[in-house]
Amino acid sequence: MENALPFIFILISLFVPQCTVATDHPSCLSSCGSLRLKYPFGSGSGCGSPRFHPYVTCSAEPSNQLLLTTHAGTYPITSISYTTSTITITPPCMSTCTSMQQSSKLSLDWASPFQLGPSTFLMLSCTPPTSSLCIKGSLVCDPSSSHLCTSFYTCPSVIGLGLPLFPPTNTCCVYSPANLNSEDELDVKSMECGGYTSVVSLTDYPTDPTRWEYGVLLKYTHGAFDHYYIDNKCNGCEESGGVCGYSTVDNDSFVCVCNNGVNTTTQCSNFSDQDESIFWSSAQLHTWKSWLGILAGYLLFSIATYSEIGGESFWVGL
Ligand SMILES: *[C@@H]1O[C@H](CO)[C@@H](O)[C@H](O)[C@H]1NC(C)=O
Ligand SMILES: *[C@@H]1O[C@H](CO)[C@@H](O)[C@H](O)[C@H]1NC(C)=O
Ligand SMILES: *[C@@H]1O[C@H](CO)[C@@H](O)[C@H](O)[C@H]1NC(C)=O
Repeated sequence: MENALPFIFILISLFVPQCTVATDHPSCLSSCGSLRLKYPFGSGSGCGSPRFHPYVTCSAEPSNQLLLTTHAGTYPITSISYTTSTITITPPCMSTCTSMQQSSKLSLDWASPFQLGPSTFLMLSCTPPTSSLCIKGSLVCDPSSSHLCTSFYTCPSVIGLGLPLFPPTNTCCVYSPANLNSEDELDVKSMECGGYTSVVSLTDYPTDPTRWEYGVLLKYTHGAFDHYYIDNKCNGCEESGGVCGYSTVDNDSFVCVCNNGVNTTTQCSNFSDQDESIFWSSAQLHTWKSWLGILAGYLLFSIATYSEIGGESFWVGL
């Protein structure tokens, strides 16, 4: 009788499918917070484009938030436009009409796929007069847009920058850089300003800063490396419900991550039709485990019963 128990457990373990592929959650997410994630964006390592991964990640805590990380800061990504290849970031230290604060710099990385889009910066609380504010000998302020300063300085939160209510507008100026400086930074401190805001759109209310859309617009580029995948593989993968990614062990080769936890090199629907019998879904796995548990319980009960009524002969007979 004592020999029968190990035998039963070996028997059970032979029945459990050897499966390490299926997982409950796909390793690449198709959304992060409210943002839909499509190529080249990914939620983590192995997802999206390898060129975007070190810069863009989906944070789990405190809530799902897509983040852009550069050498000097981490900025929440608040929108993505796949048609215009632009994103909007909202740096936490950027001022808006409801909250103004000191900030030292905004930084991007030259090596990253992100460049400054057509953003309109308002430099705030600068050493007056801003009309003589220079970077490398050239004037930076656009006097023809000074009315934006007048409007913005009506926001009561200017006191957050140590300014009085309705401060003189010669401490503010409109700056629309085509590029950032040689460190790829908007260096607020070196421009002798206290803070900045960036306006994506004046909406339909150019004189009402409470209704403006704030944020920094960035353009992104796909490299030559990526185009091959977009054209040939990624579209098909996304259309089949998968998420495009890359192998972190095999030379960044293309991977289509399907929501059943399976990775393919083509498309999801294709794969599951052919190979369903090989790769067990986790639901099937759980059902199997339940059945095996019941079977094991029944066998143990039988052993107890048989040994009481002298059923030793039954096991010997097996
Ligand atoms: C599938 O691909 C993703 C992204 O590359 C990776 O994180 C994950 O480990 C892969 N899963 C399997 C089962 O290979
Ligand atoms: C890795 O990719 C590069 C660029 O596509 C290619 O030149 C190289 O041969 C690949 N190496 C391997 C081991 O596949
Ligand atoms: C799998 O997908 C590829 C690419 O779309 C297609 O050419 C092929 O015919 C598909 N195979 C099957 C068995 O559906």
